[in-house]
Amino acid sequence: MGARHPVSLSLTINGTRHDIASDPDTPLVYVLRDELKLKGTKLGCGLEQCGACAIIVDGKVVLSCVTPVEVFDGKAITTIEGIAETETGQRVQRAFIEKTAAQCGYCTSGLVVAATALLETVPAPDRETVKAALAPHLCRCGSHPRVLEAIEKASAT
Ligand code: FES
Ligand code: FES
Repeated sequence: MGARHPVSLSLTINGTRHDIASDPDTPLVYVLRDELKLKGTKLGCGLEQCGACAIIVDGKVVLSCVTPVEVFDGKAITTIEGIAETETGQRVQRAFIEKTAAQCGYCTSGLVVAATALLETVPAPDRETVKAALAPHLCRCGSHPRVLEAIEKASAT
């Protein structure tokens, strides 16, 4: 199937409305990174298998690498850039730094998004709850033990 003609779409990203014209079949992550230059959201597997591309849509963690941009028309999206402006997001990021919870860092954006979304709804989760929230997120560097410590630190303060 070839590219479709661009259509007008309205995305609210980190509180700012963006009126764009895109092929409606383009997965959202490409629009974020290539059209809107929001490079914090990473493209890993492109198959909804690794969690690197996680964003928050209407309060829920969503993977952005497969679902077409037209699905997000009119929705409120928060990317890692928006998370970085929130008190909880900043606390999570500080804890990741203090616990050295990243090595190459490729998975980190998605993990910080997921951890922040979790702590916004469950401020003091037990370890099993954290693990369940992080289950869709792979880290090929093996940082998960320190990621768990970082989230526990962020939730304890
Ligand atoms: S890039 Fe989306 S889940 Fe891997
Ligand atoms: S820190 Fe490298 S993939 Fe997670």
